[in-house]
Amino acid sequence: WPRTAGRIDGELVLGGVGVRALAAEYGTPAYVLDEEDFRGRARAWRDALPDGEVHYGGKAFLCPLIATWLAEDGLSLDVCTGGELAVALAGGMPAERITFHGNNKSVAELRRAVATGVNAVVLDSFIEIERLAEVAREAGVRQRVMIRVTPGVDAHTHEFIATGGERSKFGFSLGLGLAAEAVAAVAAEPYLDLVGLHSHIGSQLVDLAGFAQAAARMAAFLAECEARHGIRIPKLDLGGGLGIAYRAEDPAPPTPAELVAVLRDALAGLAAPPVLAVEPGRSIAGPTTVALYEIGTVKEIPGVGVYVSVDGGMSDNPRPAMYGAAYTAALANRVSDAPARPVNLVGKHCESGDILGWDMPLPADTRPGDLLAIPASGAYQRSMANNYNHVLRPPVLAVRGGRVTVAVRRETEDDLLRLYTS
Ligand code: LLP
Repeated sequence: WPRTAGRIDGELVLGGVGVRALAAEYGTPAYVLDEEDFRGRARAWRDALPDGEVHYGGKAFLCPLIATWLAEDGLSLDVCTGGELAVALAGGMPAERITFHGNNKSVAELRRAVATGVNAVVLDSFIEIERLAEVAREAGVRQRVMIRVTPGVDAHTHEFIATGGERSKFGFSLGLGLAAEAVAAVAAEPYLDLVGLHSHIGSQLVDLAGFAQAAARMAAFLAECEARHGIRIPKLDLGGGLGIAYRAEDPAPPTPAELVAVLRDALAGLAAPPVLAVEPGRSIAGPTTVALYEIGTVKEIPGVGVYVSVDGGMSDNPRPAMYGAAYTAALANRVSDAPARPVNLVGKHCESGDILGWDMPLPADTRPGDLLAIPASGAYQRSMANNYNHVLRPPVLAVRGGRVTVAVRRETEDDLLRLYTS
């Protein structure tokens, strides 16, 4: 639960605002974002790496307000599309603190990145090295770049979010020698300035062993670039990936400081230690936000079980369907003494895969009109939300000290209809 979460007379209160008032004024479903918690987590990362760089992974959740907070709090930002870049700039994040990622950036995106003056473009393929060199030459700019390296580490997580193994679509393989070829290719381009190496092995990782292994391999590669080819690379960006607890029974993940200590250990042997950068997304945004739903129906099927339906579903949280992600849910408008029973929590979409959780314990008197809160909903939910079944995407309500700021408003039918031009 977010840092400021508590109960007053049984009602869930976040940032000093009760969920009943939020639901009455802004409707459900909604994401309720605890500003103090978000900024506290961002600053904890920054403080864990005072002599390095913390780039928030914008894919976890980004809106202009978040970009403003990060800019104020001294963090940098990782974006992976032109759209994320536009939102970052709209929120006032200085271009020189933005890193541009992605395995298939368009020429238009590369031109925009160069024209905006982003800090670095992370190169992901030989075609892209040539493409960016050409874009930079046209613009008359020597563009700062990093090279994404695939260190050959199999992180223990869902296969869709593991990115460090040799079969990954991302980056240049270290083991196959492609990373070394990429370094040579970039060094030969007069309009590219190689400022760093980058790796990211996966997401929702709670075991530090994979991070340690990747860091050690990247450190060895950095040393090799200097010793063998005389190329000194000043920065090592080891990506994001630190996991969070979604349910009370999930093990507590390592802290940012513990992860940074492991990374530093792996770099300790280097004669000239590089500037260390990290890109946490989920571990900042995830725990800060509660998804708030209203229960619409409770259906008991004798001999089968109970289905509790809420007014959102796989369009605002595709993670259970995509990754088998497991959440916890709690009544939010009241507490109940009724015994808990397992229910299947489902959404309002027209398919059976629209599930938020199987066998989730909820009080037996849970009824239509109750509000339901799902914690740990701040990462990869609003950012992955879609309009399946023409459902409107929920708002993000930032709460702090009893005040509400609408960070993202609720989508309207007019928003949807505007796309249909004939
Ligand atoms: N840096 C790079 C290059 C990345 O690809 C990612 C995540 C991050 C940083 C941030 O990783 P984090 O600290 O958030 O784990 N949709 C999936 C997660 C996809 C992660 C993609 N890349 C999910 O809902 O679990």
